[in-house]
Amino acid sequence: MPTQFNNEIPATSRDQAAALDQQDPFASKRDEFDLQDDVIYLCGNSLGPMPKSVVAKIEHTLRQDWAKGLVTSWNKAGWFMMTDTLGDRLATLLGAGQGELVVSDATGINIYKTLHAAISMQPGRTRIVCEATSFPTDLYMIEGVTSLLENMEVKLEGRDAEHIEDLFDQNTAVVLMNQVDYRSGEIRDIKALTEKAHAVGALVISDVCHSAGAIPVDLHDENVDFAVGCTYKYLNSGPGAPAFAYVAARHHGKFKQPLTGWHGHAEPFKFEPTYRAGAGARALLSGTQPAISAVGVNAGLDVFEGVDMHALYEKGKALSTLLQQLVEQWCEPYGVKLYSPKEAHLRNGQLSLTHENGYAIVQALIERNVIGDYRQPNVIRFGITPLYLRYTDIWDAAHHLRDVLETEQWKEERFNVRQLVT
Ligand SMILES: Cc1ncc(COP(=O)(O)O)c(C=O)c1O
Repeated sequence: MPTQFNNEIPATSRDQAAALDQQDPFASKRDEFDLQDDVIYLCGNSLGPMPKSVVAKIEHTLRQDWAKGLVTSWNKAGWFMMTDTLGDRLATLLGAGQGELVVSDATGINIYKTLHAAISMQPGRTRIVCEATSFPTDLYMIEGVTSLLENMEVKLEGRDAEHIEDLFDQNTAVVLMNQVDYRSGEIRDIKALTEKAHAVGALVISDVCHSAGAIPVDLHDENVDFAVGCTYKYLNSGPGAPAFAYVAARHHGKFKQPLTGWHGHAEPFKFEPTYRAGAGARALLSGTQPAISAVGVNAGLDVFEGVDMHALYEKGKALSTLLQQLVEQWCEPYGVKLYSPKEAHLRNGQLSLTHENGYAIVQALIERNVIGDYRQPNVIRFGITPLYLRYTDIWDAAHHLRDVLETEQWKEERFNVRQLVT
């Protein structure tokens, strides 16, 4: 991979980028990840890289807790209560209180449960509001929920109205919103929208998959009723690591959810024949959780110890602005357009671009160890994750992108063969 690039942008240069790396207060964080030096990883918005500490932690779980401790580890190693201990740990990062958040299941499952939970608190209301551009799982889960309930209507921003708040009315039971759009990285003003939803008596579920660990999230300040999110993106917990669900303390004991497994029971080891919901967010639990994957969540959260999320967001904005400037100057002549909001403060760091040959361009970049991803219909996504990315990574990535475009390398056949995961 070339390391010497011409300085073609007067406002900045690779040397200046290197100087910024020298002053970076997060510089030492990169060392906590197992990242190869010649890989520019711009996909932490999809799967975070591996924290180095997770290897020893999982080895301990396997060799000590599983092999030696056997079934006693549900108590001794705290496996049974990891839903709560990890939840409480994550809560401090997300501005939630103790007992309001559990780590469990997949985001989609938690959407299903919290949608039902919110609807159960809103008798007589029959409207669900979401975004037409939402991550598909959110929409599919709404379909699943409404397939079991009579008379529910679904209204979508971008289909039924331009602005989501125009769909909030006295009949709205629940609004499911993404704090950050997965394609563009655009941040919604979830606090202001929640206030508007509450003004008509609607409840809000915030999907924080693309904000948790990326930007400051303050569930109490935002005043949302429920929240769901995953740990395998910005929280670096490992592929398929358990997700989380939040319910504000004011709603504890007041909702019902349909996946009432024994872990959510008030006293699981009484093995009663009928269900009684557990306390707080525990009422959102269902069944046995993958203890080994949960260890990954702990390792992911270790990396965030002492991290000021506001400072991290500032670095993310600086990195994405640098990429934006370089792309504008170097790549726009080749048909690349900015898809993310132009203003850095409206982005979670992610910078998305469009190009009709986006898929092949991403594949050509991956061969050069510049790893981003592609989303239909034409979006190239670069996840900007300031915990471990350097200014020079951004500089080099933009240079590679220009080179792929200039040389038309993306036209090579192998880059145009669609793989399952894009
Ligand atoms: C915003 C958003 N919501 C929901 C999901 C679904 O998550 P899962 O497949 O883990 O249930 C994703 C997955 O990427 C997502 O990005």
